Amino acid sequence: MGKLMTLRAFEEADIPAVAALEAANQPRPWSPKVFIDEIGRSDRRYIVAEDDGIVGFGGVMLVGDEAHVTNLLVDPARRGEGIGRSVLTKLVLLSVDSGAEHLTLEVRSKNEAALGLYRSFGLAPVGVRPKYYGDDDALIMWAHDIATTWPSSTEESEH
Ligand SMILES: CC(C)(COP(=O)(O)OP(=O)(O)OC[C@H]1O[C@@H](n2cnc3c(N)ncnc32)[C@H](O)[C@@H]1OP(=O)(O)O)[C@@H](O)C(=O)NCCC(=O)NCCS
Repeated sequence: MGKLMTLRAFEEADIPAVAALEAANQPRPWSPKVFIDEIGRSDRRYIVAEDDGIVGFGGVMLVGDEAHVTNLLVDPARRGEGIGRSVLTKLVLLSVDSGAEHLTLEVRSKNEAALGLYRSFGLAPVGVRPKYYGDDDALIMWAHDIATTWPSSTEESEH
């Protein structure tokens, strides 16, 4: 049996594993240096999901009363198990704890998996950046008043 999945802060020692996951699965991957810069900033919150190894990660940038999702990725071999939902839930809770009231992000308009996840978090499309990704449009999504509208069922889930 595998280990229970845990969510914990993304540390510098995680960068090789996270950057490898990113490089293998993102069309425009962040370099290790970007990860170092991002996790070192006080206005960011980054976490990893781990059981036998790192199976996903994600982060937010805090800007005033807004939290912007900067990155979210789950190992393709481990998708559909609720890991993405757990990571995003934890990021929202960390954002609310840091004073964020609204959640926003940009997503490829054809990224059905991410869109399904985000819609289930109450994020709604408010605008389009045409051809932002070259071959695809970016949808700008928002969820307002996350601290008050967030259902209590989003407390850390166990796996
Ligand atoms: C988007 C992503 C993070 C989802 O991670 P995941 O662990 O597979 O998602 P979960 O198992 O937690 O699923 C949560 C919800 O997402 C939606 N979802 C997940 N996979 C889906 C799919 N293939 N099609 C449609 N909706 C999907 C569903 O609403 C699902 O809820 P449900 O299981 O109750 O139906 C993952 O697909 C991924 O890493 N994609 C590549 C990177 C990426 O697109 N990141 C987002 C960039 S903005």
